[in-house]
Amino acid sequence: MTPRDQTNSAVTAIAHPNIALVKYWGKDDLTRNLPATGSVSITLDTLMTRTTVAIAPDGKDRFELEGREETAMAARTFRYLDAHLGADRPRLSITSENNFPTAAGLASSASGFAALVVAINALLDRHAAQSVMAQAAGAGSGSAARSLFGGFARLDKATSDTDDIRVQQLAPAAHFPLAVVVAVTAEGRKPIGSTEAMIQSRDTSPYYDRWVADQEGDLDTAENAILRQDFEALATVSEHSCLKMHAVMQTTQPSLLYWNAATIACMHEVSAMRRDGVGVFFTIDAGPQLKAVCLPADRDRVASALADVPGVKRLIHAGLGDGARVISGAADLD
Ligand code: DP6
Repeated sequence: MTPRDQTNSAVTAIAHPNIALVKYWGKDDLTRNLPATGSVSITLDTLMTRTTVAIAPDGKDRFELEGREETAMAARTFRYLDAHLGADRPRLSITSENNFPTAAGLASSASGFAALVVAINALLDRHAAQSVMAQAAGAGSGSAARSLFGGFARLDKATSDTDDIRVQQLAPAAHFPLAVVVAVTAEGRKPIGSTEAMIQSRDTSPYYDRWVADQEGDLDTAENAILRQDFEALATVSEHSCLKMHAVMQTTQPSLLYWNAATIACMHEVSAMRRDGVGVFFTIDAGPQLKAVCLPADRDRVASALADVPGVKRLIHAGLGDGARVISGAADLD
């Protein structure tokens, strides 16, 4: 765990956001950021966070996002690093860029923490296993644990106070190729962070306990559907999980209503296409964007239908991608 000798060496890692098909919403342990529910996700390819870390030459922590110093994110990141690496950790210079909107329900915290953990692991020559890095990333942001893996990932919650989450790849991207069309219906940051929102849901939604109790069955159903490449079964469990999570969100006090009119119009459009036999289903996270997951052969039809929905500002296309990885600067790559 010794820092590398060349204090000015830098490591760059990339990570892709992932989208949960079986959703995570709720915390069991706030200090360790342990989720109250497991989740199943797909990792995307075209959306990306690219993070470079170096030992700070002047001994001062520094965090730049999109070329600008970011105080709120810097505070969260360095607090996390103090807890994860110890307060005597080396001071770091971190620069990070996303090629998609930050904090708008497109999982920028997932790819952000995944890229950070992988880059720091290489910078400090730690050689941690992917599953261990996933646990570390999950302590920063629950969904980040899944971005360590490409294709399809499953996260199982900790079952005791001394336990940690278990995260594994269910299948690589090539096992069951899927396309994702993101309908962007509003740009800009979300009004409330997911950590705070999840606590409010736990404390006030009458459906929260039932949501948590049903999760195990959904995880197994989704896993089986993925392993059998059964699109219809995956569509059914995914939409159901999404709508159950939003029912919990919407019945939280004060209500967490993440949808706008265009989000709902897109849901109707996807449902209509699905009834017509198009291979597509929707999922929505803590923001107004709708993610249409589809069979690659149906992607163009889905994209042109969603582009015509009033209020859709633009589409983002993705397929399934790989897990977080170092792209330059690691000792092993030198
Ligand atoms: C709605 O991973 O952002 O996207 O652990 O508090 O950082 P924290 O939460 P975060 O929550 C993601 C919630 C979700 C559903 C999901 O991705 O499973």
